[in-house]
Amino acid sequence: MTAAINQAVKQAVPTHHHDLKVRHMDFEFSDDIPEFWYDNDPFKTLLLAALSGGFPEGERFFIDSVRHFQEHVKDPELRQAIRAFIGQEAHHSKEHKILNDFLESRGYPISRIDKGVGMAMSWYRKYLSPARQLAHTAAVEHFTALMAEKYLLNSDELAKMDSRMAGIWAWHAIEETEHKAVAFDVYKTAVDSEWVRRSQMAICTVMFLGFSTYDFISLMRHSGRQGDVKMWAKGINYYWGTTGIFRKMIPEYLRYYRRDFHPWQHDSRALVESIKQQYLGNKA
Ligand SMILES: [Fe+2]
Ligand SMILES: [Fe+2]
Repeated sequence: MTAAINQAVKQAVPTHHHDLKVRHMDFEFSDDIPEFWYDNDPFKTLLLAALSGGFPEGERFFIDSVRHFQEHVKDPELRQAIRAFIGQEAHHSKEHKILNDFLESRGYPISRIDKGVGMAMSWYRKYLSPARQLAHTAAVEHFTALMAEKYLLNSDELAKMDSRMAGIWAWHAIEETEHKAVAFDVYKTAVDSEWVRRSQMAICTVMFLGFSTYDFISLMRHSGRQGDVKMWAKGINYYWGTTGIFRKMIPEYLRYYRRDFHPWQHDSRALVESIKQQYLGNKA
């Protein structure tokens, strides 16, 4: 029954695996970038900084979890997409490490976040089955695709960032969207347990929200702005208020629990195309 449904979904939803492109970027961050480089707002800036702190170790884990199953994949297009996925995530790790070192040089304890995520990933590697590790990656990839499509690929948001910072977020969001179905399709091909997929998403959600909030607060403490009640109220409302960015993602997040879910049920190519032209120039 499940196989029949999966087959039907596969036929109904194009996977766009051939659209992946590995771009070698070379971001530089100079000292005149303002401390709060996103809308001059500590809340927005440090929220993205906390996420960046977890990328290098997190993305290494994604690569390993997908690579473990690559021999199970026979479809040549998906095999090619796995290689591109690995290339894209490896470059994200590398460029975010440069960004993280820059933020660390300003005194923000990003390396503590990096270390914490590294420890969590080591625990995952040791105690979770490869199937669950891959389910974790597919779950986080749903988060990163949501963040990209519902947030970072919005040109109004990118325009609020210092231009030297907007580039790395636009590039990362574009590639997260391009490869959003790779880990998912490898999971469907090689594992395909609905229980593991859904339960791992539930676990991942709790962990992701918990750790991100903790990391964000630790950076906020460092900024010295933790006592600014007005800034907190404005920030919480921006993300979680009635029309808040994160609140608006909830229906799309919940779709992941549907048996017939597939990341490309939401076609985001037009959105990516416009941002590509604007932010990637000749690397689009
Ligand atoms: Fe990434
Ligand atoms: Fe990714």
